[in-house]
Amino acid sequence: MRILAVGTAGDVGKAAVAELRPRHEIITAGRSSGDVRVDLLDASSISAMFEKLGKLDAVVACAGHAHYGPLAGMTETQFMKGLKDKLMGQVNLVLLGTPYVNDRGSFTLTSGVLDRDPILKGVNGATVNAALKGFVTAAAIELERGIRKLTDSISSTYFLVTADHGFLYRRSVIGEHEKIDVRGLGAIAAAKRYRLTAQPLAQARPASAD
Ligand SMILES: NC(=O)c1ccc[n+]([C@@H]2O[C@H](COP(=O)([O-])OP(=O)(O)OC[C@H]3O[C@@H](n4cnc5c(N)ncnc54)[C@H](OP(=O)(O)O)[C@@H]3O)[C@@H](O)[C@H]2O)c1
Repeated sequence: MRILAVGTAGDVGKAAVAELRPRHEIITAGRSSGDVRVDLLDASSISAMFEKLGKLDAVVACAGHAHYGPLAGMTETQFMKGLKDKLMGQVNLVLLGTPYVNDRGSFTLTSGVLDRDPILKGVNGATVNAALKGFVTAAAIELERGIRKLTDSISSTYFLVTADHGFLYRRSVIGEHEKIDVRGLGAIAAAKRYRLTAQPLAQARPASAD
């Protein structure tokens, strides 16, 4: 894949490139380092970078700073640092970069743990991480080109994504009454660990329903 990675001079970016470079074409970017120069605080700089690079398969962002300091006395200007830099820098990569990313491509943004595991003086970083999480969650359902391609290719509209071997991990043993009798259920495709049916499995009666 042709991958643009922004912020590759930093600790996280270096690790990302080390992992990806053996398998992909990596274009590095940073404010003062990398194959291309970009300032994520400047939308026109981001647009110019995408225009110069053309089509990509993935964009990985490993850049962004927040304000670290006590909540007491924190100013709006200080608080805006994280919003403008770490949040909007990465959000703008998606907003401006989407037309340049191929179908079934991806964006990877970097947040952190502070919103889940707070530290003193970390309010701004925690806020930004939570905002990034919200952005990614909602943006993912609107970045449809990959999903549309998948649905078009197998003429289906409903997908059930399951874990590993087709059932979710649980601590208790599955009771007989919880199992579905698949006899008589038509199957488009079936094997030991899966069954693809025309009707939702929820409509099938449990084995012991009688
Ligand atoms: N390091 C950690 O332990 C850790 C933990 C959790 C989360 N994170 C998050 O991961 C991200 C990266 O952290 P890091 O420690 O690797 O960062 P870092 O060492 O500060 O590196 C930042 C990288 O981003 C680039 N950069 C900074 N501002 C930029 C801008 N405005 N436009 C374009 N490029 C810019 C820098 O490029 P130049 O050097 O060329 O300017 C550098 O390559 C941050 O968002 C951070 O909050 C890091």
